[in-house]
Amino acid sequence: MNKQEAKKRVEELRELLDKANKAYYQDAQPFISDKEFDNYLAELEKLEEEYDLVDPQSPTQRVGGEPSSDFETVEHPVPLLSLDNTYNEDELNDFDRRVRDILGHDNFTYLVELKFDGAAIRLRYENGALVLGATRGDGESGDDITRNIKTIKDIPLHLDDDFPDVVEVRGEAYIEREAFVRLNEHREKQGLNHFANPRNSTAGSLKMQDPREVARRPIRFFSFDLLTDDTDAEITQYRKMKLLDKFGLPVCEHFKQCTDIDEVHTQIDEWESLRHDLPFETDGVVIKVNEEKYRDTLGTTSKAPRWAIAYKFEAEQATTVVKDIRLQVGRLGKITPVADFKAVQLAGTTVKHASLHNEDEIHRKDIRVGDRVVVEKAGEIIPQVVSVVNPDREDRAPRFKMPKYCPACNEKLVKLGDDVDWTCINPGCPPQVRQRIEHFASRDAMDIDGLGEAVVDQLVSEQLISNYADLYDLTKEQLLPLERIAKKSAQNLINAIEESKSQPLDRVIYAMGIRFVGKTVARDLANAFQTMEALMDANQETMEEIDSIGPKIAQSVVEFFNQKHNRKIVAKLRNHGLNLVMEQKQKASQKLDSKTFVLTGSLPSLTRKEATQLIEKHGGKTTSSVSGNTDYLLAGDSPGSKYDEAQKLDIPILDQDTFLDLIDEKP
Ligand code: IVH
Repeated sequence: MNKQEAKKRVEELRELLDKANKAYYQDAQPFISDKEFDNYLAELEKLEEEYDLVDPQSPTQRVGGEPSSDFETVEHPVPLLSLDNTYNEDELNDFDRRVRDILGHDNFTYLVELKFDGAAIRLRYENGALVLGATRGDGESGDDITRNIKTIKDIPLHLDDDFPDVVEVRGEAYIEREAFVRLNEHREKQGLNHFANPRNSTAGSLKMQDPREVARRPIRFFSFDLLTDDTDAEITQYRKMKLLDKFGLPVCEHFKQCTDIDEVHTQIDEWESLRHDLPFETDGVVIKVNEEKYRDTLGTTSKAPRWAIAYKFEAEQATTVVKDIRLQVGRLGKITPVADFKAVQLAGTTVKHASLHNEDEIHRKDIRVGDRVVVEKAGEIIPQVVSVVNPDREDRAPRFKMPKYCPACNEKLVKLGDDVDWTCINPGCPPQVRQRIEHFASRDAMDIDGLGEAVVDQLVSEQLISNYADLYDLTKEQLLPLERIAKKSAQNLINAIEESKSQPLDRVIYAMGIRFVGKTVARDLANAFQTMEALMDANQETMEEIDSIGPKIAQSVVEFFNQKHNRKIVAKLRNHGLNLVMEQKQKASQKLDSKTFVLTGSLPSLTRKEATQLIEKHGGKTTSSVSGNTDYLLAGDSPGSKYDEAQKLDIPILDQDTFLDLIDEKP
């Protein structure tokens, strides 16, 4: 390679790595594996050195991406470093040798910990109180996400025991595997994109703008480092873990002191088999020189300490052949390409297919029918295609071409907004019809027992129903000729359909399957509008006044009710006597009758939820922003801009005590 060629390759690699960094750190949508990333980075490092092409802007010179501009940026007084990776015994032995060479003795021990696969965060406690939570960002500075961090139940707001004045904690936020699966199922129901793995869902969740949304995400936390202003020359990593635990911070039980590298290897082997039984994702082990006093001597490179290293477990991968790429039509019309494989064993289960997510993804990986591909389980759960084996083969099938028409109903496919997905917008598209009915009947919606996939399939293909409102016209006689429906189950189904009529309004709203309207949003809509009538006639602006509703949801609801066939369905539900009006709860009083409150800041003893419940109990309601329609602002400590807004508009501002006096409630 001459210098010109090296320069070209260096530029290519920098561009690729910058993109990968951004995709990983900022967008939580990585497109190459960690190992690929490390390989490219190593190649770049080597070329830069060999051809004297070092540049301060190069990805080799930094740890991660720029912090997102949506949050305040905070400098990290001590940088949050990254770790170098090793992938085999020899590489780990090299690390051990380097450490012993630099120190000039082997009078030290190692502490080995699991490597958690989530997102690194930094916590700061002053006088025992949590004052800051921040993302790692680029290692030097990150985003102030304190409000989001405070929603993570594992993270104490106050430390226990004898703590120094200032305590800095570093650790990993993560999402357990099971919770990750449930989160994705929930997103599916709401018509949202899947998270590729637990790590992305954690990183994405931590950077959400609305802390209440963050609170609903099952984020957990393990601490792995402690920095204090108490300097103790004899401190060890082991002792730090014990201190973290003593302060009430979560520490994973799996950490072990090892006297030498052989013991480290034994420990790694043990954990490699344990990893599948753990409820969370771990992608390796971190090996740290235990005695802190040696860390200064060992020092750091530009991005990683020389006193610690990661040992990455083998990703469980297999190769198989793509038999077909077919298109699946979702409940909301989203078209998802799915690869069918020759069955293969992977991490304990047989894998026969994997979602290819969307057209862009197929083209990026250039997956074609007949290809041999590497598959792996993201978060050890969901099979994914990693890459094509030997993509330069000459006898490959042509590139995948996304059809222009729906594979089920032949409607022309469209892209909605800036979506990457193609969507079929034909409301009569058979698979969509079937899935909408299934959703309507599902347990969290109208809870109609006995109306599973097989029955719905028959009802639709026999043309007995074409939408969920038609369910209420069904008779027992119509059901009897269907396959696998005996007299008794026909009667049970009719009864279940009849009983569903008494489900409350919020369930009906959820059951209708409006894009982005999950259970919580449905409940908020029902509470705010009280009747289906009012909801159908609401405009986007009034809808956005509700706390949990942003422009995207509001637009989706308005669009849904603008469609004639949906209005017809509602009319039909009404004729059948469904509950389209909120049941009136017993109100304690009418003291706040029709008064609109806005809440800001933190109240001394009431949570936001409790305050809202009290307001509703006395006949009032809450909205999220101050406007001419606001009657009171209920303000606590550190109120935001709503306080100034209320003052400007001359809106009465209440503190907790005055508020409680107003409704005759005791604190
Ligand atoms: S120590 C300077 N310990 O891995 C020491 N990191 O690849 C760096 N990680 O940013 C951190 N588990 O987010 C450490 N037990 C553990 C860890 C751990 C996961 C993450 C951490 C770090 C990344 C580096």
